[in-house]
Amino acid sequence: MTERVPTGIFQKLSRLDDGDGPLRPRSFGEFVGQRRVVDNLRTWIDAARKRGRSLDHVLLSGPPGLGKTTLATLVAQAMDAELRITSGPVLERAGDLVGLLTGLSEGDVLFVDEIHRMPRTVEEYLYAAMEDLAVDVVIDQGPAARSVRLSLAPFTLVGATTREGLLSQPLRARFGVVEKLVPYPADELALIVERSAARLGCGLAPTAAQAVAERSRGVPRVANRLLRRLRDVADLHNDGHVSPAIVEQGLTMLGIDELGLEDMDRRYLMALQRMGGGPAGLRTIAVAVGEEEDTLELVYEPHLIRLGFVLKTSRGRELTDAARVHLGLGVGPAPDNSGLFDG
Ligand SMILES: Nc1ncnc2c1ncn2[C@@H]1O[C@H](COP(=O)(O)OP(=O)(O)OP(=O)(O)O)[C@@H](O)[C@H]1O
Ligand SMILES: [Mg+2]
Repeated sequence: MTERVPTGIFQKLSRLDDGDGPLRPRSFGEFVGQRRVVDNLRTWIDAARKRGRSLDHVLLSGPPGLGKTTLATLVAQAMDAELRITSGPVLERAGDLVGLLTGLSEGDVLFVDEIHRMPRTVEEYLYAAMEDLAVDVVIDQGPAARSVRLSLAPFTLVGATTREGLLSQPLRARFGVVEKLVPYPADELALIVERSAARLGCGLAPTAAQAVAERSRGVPRVANRLLRRLRDVADLHNDGHVSPAIVEQGLTMLGIDELGLEDMDRRYLMALQRMGGGPAGLRTIAVAVGEEEDTLELVYEPHLIRLGFVLKTSRGRELTDAARVHLGLGVGPAPDNSGLFDG
């Protein structure tokens, strides 16, 4: 796999990274977990290669930090294809997309990150591109205006989205492969932490790896981020060795508790408690804690829901007794102050 020099609407992989580029798995063999997704992808890739064809279009969905971008790079690598990277919000005008599509060579993998954020008017050009390997462009203006069909080299579109539900039906239907990534169990995260520690060259006790994994909310990016901070603490206080004691010290410094809850999680739960335990709308909670609705829904809520601390009902979010016990509050809703938060 090679990466062409990015210009304009193309992006460098490093720019999509949050500094964990060196920790990114470089082959399917290094990619931990998501067994079914990986096995499926490898099967479709092997079959496509055997036939000498490009792979069908692939949609990867799932919360942030679970490995969508990583898988896109691995798909391109396994197909021996060039990877070209862009993202939905960057493709503002139809011309951007058309230029990008007509510039592709046979077999290229075009990765469109955050594909749900592509404007509808641009997206419509993708339909014919994906299905018929063609784009229709209008040339000239006024009475001379006419539509011309440009043919495209066979390519594979890999789309990534954190919000599959926001994808239009016509777009979604044009992906031959649709895979969902799910949060990782702690034992897989522990393996990721161990491998990352080896790559970073820092010592790590096995029980420390497990402790980090349990506080990573099911997300490899979080696990790697915690490890980097713990390595800092270890470098200063323990000759670079991440021991269980260093994990405790570091996570306390970061305000992360034994279930992986951060400050924002606690503020979210306390806000709900102040609203009589809910049900409360996401918007109301977002205002109360000063965070964006999207971030709460994608980054914080999944973990709180998995822990059984928050229920998502048709009437809104509700706090559970398990959350109250964890926060050291009395069981049962607090007096209803929700009026304070309603606009
Ligand atoms: N299965 C895995 N095995 C090992 N490391 C992983 C795995 N999945 C993700 N990672 C690590 O987590 C980091 C984040 O993964 P990645 O950037 O692919 O997530 P993403 O799903 O694209 O997130 P976003 O939605 O925020 O773009 C990677 O750089 C890599 O280091
Ligand atoms: Mg990504």
